Formats: sequence, C-alpha cells, structure tokens
Amino acid sequence: MNSIIRNIVPLGSLLVSVLALALAVWISPWWLILLLVTVPLLAFSLYDYFQKDWTITRNYPGAARIRWLAYDLRPFLRAYIVEGDLEGKPYPYEARNLVHARARGQTDTHPFGTERDVEGAEYQWVNHSIAPAEHPEKSPRVTVGNDQCAKPYSASVLNISAMSFGALSANAVEALNLGAKQGGFYHDTGEGGFSRYHQSHGGDIVWELGSGYFGARDDAGNFDPELFAEQASRDQVKMTEIKLSQGAKPGHGGLLPAAKVTEEIAETRKVPAHQDCLSPRGHKAFSTPAQMMEFAARMRDLSGGKPVGIKLCIGQPHEAFAVVKAMQKTGIYPDFVVVDGAEGGTGAAPLELSDHVGMPLIDGLVLMRNALVGAGVKDKVRLAASGKVYSGYGLAQNLAIGADWCNAARAFMFSIGC
Ligand SMILES: Cc1cc2nc3c(=O)[nH]c(=O)nc-3n(C[C@H](O)[C@H](O)[C@H](O)COP(=O)(O)O)c2cc1C
Repeated sequence: MNSIIRNIVPLGSLLVSVLALALAVWISPWWLILLLVTVPLLAFSLYDYFQKDWTITRNYPGAARIRWLAYDLRPFLRAYIVEGDLEGKPYPYEARNLVHARARGQTDTHPFGTERDVEGAEYQWVNHSIAPAEHPEKSPRVTVGNDQCAKPYSASVLNISAMSFGALSANAVEALNLGAKQGGFYHDTGEGGFSRYHQSHGGDIVWELGSGYFGARDDAGNFDPELFAEQASRDQVKMTEIKLSQGAKPGHGGLLPAAKVTEEIAETRKVPAHQDCLSPRGHKAFSTPAQMMEFAARMRDLSGGKPVGIKLCIGQPHEAFAVVKAMQKTGIYPDFVVVDGAEGGTGAAPLELSDHVGMPLIDGLVLMRNALVGAGVKDKVRLAASGKVYSGYGLAQNLAIGADWCNAARAFMFSIGC
C-alpha cells in the first residue's frame, strides 16, 4: 500500500495514458489530448525514480516535484499574500512601499492612524516639542572637516551609502548619482572604485577605499598614491573614506566572481578582467590604529586637503577605543567616522556573518559616540550612521543618539526600482 502511495504519480499517469489510448481507439481520437499531460508526468517520474541526487524525488517520483514547486513559490507567496505590512525582513512592505511612493512622487500619507502596537515592548518613538519651529530648515547641512582639513564639505543629513559599481549595474550607479546631483546629497562609491558612471551626472562623490584599494592600486594590490591623488583631487570628489568593515559581513572581505569582472569593471578597479577580484579581509597599508591615522592623513594630503573618514561596524569595544586613542596619540583626527550597523546590507555574505557578527547600529553608534565624547575629540570628528534608515524617523532616531548625518543603501536601491 505504501509503495502505491509513493508511486501514485507514475502509476496514475500510466493508468490514465492507457485509458486515453483505449478511449481514442473506441470513441474519439480527441482523448489523445490527455497524453499531453500524462506522458510528461510519466517521463519526469521515471527520471526521478532512477536519479540519485535527491532522495525525496526518488522515493516519491513525480509527486515530490510539487514540493520543489512550493519551495520556489514560497518567497513570492509569503511576500505578496501572507506577510503583514510591518512584518517583512529585512524591510517590511510598509518601508518598501513608502520609498517607492516617494521616489515616484506619489501620495505618501497614511490614513486612519498607526498600525503599530504602541503598547508593545518594541515600540519606539521620539518626543516632539509643544512649540514647533516656525520655519524649519528645509535641507539641514553638516559641515565636515576639522582644522586639519583644507576643504571642508557641507554634507546633507541623508546620503547614498557605499555600494560598488559591480555590486550595482552601470544604470543603477548612474541613476543614483543623478539623484545625488538633483537632491544635493553625496553618493559614496563603495569600495569598487570611482567609475565613469559615477561621473556622468556630477553628483557629489565620497570615494571609498577598501582593502583592495580599487582604482588606486598597483598590480600587486598595494595602495598607489599617484593614482589616488589623480582621482581624489577631482572636483567632484568631496571626501574620501577608508573602509574597515561593513555590518553585513565584518572581517570578511569580498570576492567579485570572474564572470562579473568585465573590461569596464576591471578598468575602474585596476584589476585584470575576467578573473576573480578579491577584497582581502584586512588592509595592507597599515596594521595598527596609529598607522591608520597616518594613512588617513596621507589620503587627506593627496586629495588636496579634503575630509577623510573611516567606515566600520563596531566589533570588539576595546578596538574602537584604540582607534580613538590613536587619534589622541598621533594628533591626527579623521574628519568623520561612519558607524555601520550589523543589520546593514551587502551584495552577498555568509549567513553567519550577516546574522550574528558585529554590533547593531544603535549599540555601535552609542559606543562610538561615547568614545569620541569621552576622549574629548567629538568636536573634531563628525559621526555618521548607516543601518536600515529609510524614513525621517530613522534619521531622527540616529541624530538623537549622536549621529551628525545618516547614509542609506538599500532604501536608495528601492527608490530606483529594486
Ligand atoms: C548591494 C550593496 C553593496 C554594498 N557595497 C558596499 C561597499 O562597497 N562598501 C561599503 O562600505 N558598504 C557596502 N554596502 C553596505 C552599505 O553601504 C551600508 O553600509 C549598509 O547596507 C547599511 O545601510 P542600509 O541598511 O541602508 O542598506 C553595500 C550594501 C549593499 C546593499
């Protein structure tokens, strides 16, 4: 009985095929139409029965394919039908919808009141003033650049966070840069170099250098000061940034597979085309916090005195303190530090790193702010935050706990249709 149930699809298909043949002979050839369904089912079932890759399809030939189909449909069924407006992860429907509506200039107001559980343990809010400002600043700006910087930059409080050309397509990079130009905010290149697509619209650029020094490296992958100076001194580049880590994969580095390393990407990154392109886990240009400060000062000089910053996801607290101590010891103050939360996004990362390594934004931001304030250097070093900011509330929350401005990556991906 058990084996009949297990083989219900091939047995059923065989039975119906035979019946269809008989009916075609006795009654009408139209019955042969049934073979269009039963013969493929029989063929799949025979294949399933003899294959040795999957136990479940071998045990339940034909029938187990329904399971694969359900697996394939699962993300769509959940996202489109089952999932509540506030439930989706990493971003709920409400967030995606809000960004889409605002990007398209559609109505973004919400009728009838909040759907959030304001009595729930996870409910968050900010306190308003009973005396609202009469003329609130329309586009508040933050001046970045301490007394060691010759060309301070006036940054928006919301900017496009680092995403490389390579992780994003040329069209996406161009669209984001056009947005930065129109909106008056900056566009961080990500570690994949300053490509021609970042340049076509002239939006403000923060050029990020990761451990691969893409766009500013020699053939052996070492930092090349001349290449760096050539691009960093361009007018469009407003600040430069050393990437130590990102929240979605701290300490991991990265690999752009050979198939994605086109001639264009290779030219931008200064790496060989059609070969795997590796971002090592750590930097070669420095190995202590003090050396990192010296490297930052060098980048600032080579860029013609533009602000230089450090981006990191906070891990071991004592290391964050060591970075601040190195500022005091060397007397070199980076112009800004960007704290990325463990909840941050990436092109691809091992699940263990995304799910369990690195400090979430609020904790990391509080820690870094306290380190800077405690050491008495917060007036020299601006603090930025990234991690799931997609609305004014995210901005307000991070500014309230110490950030001077915020960056968003995935929300900007939604805005261009991702
Ligand atoms: C597709 C993609 C590519 C990214 N590439 C980089 C990168 O090259 N350098 C970097 O510092 N962070 C990178 N990030 C991380 C983002 O800059 C940002 O710090 C993180 O996603 C948190 O912001 P979000 O929550 O608004 O997405 C990337 C994120 C995404 C989604």
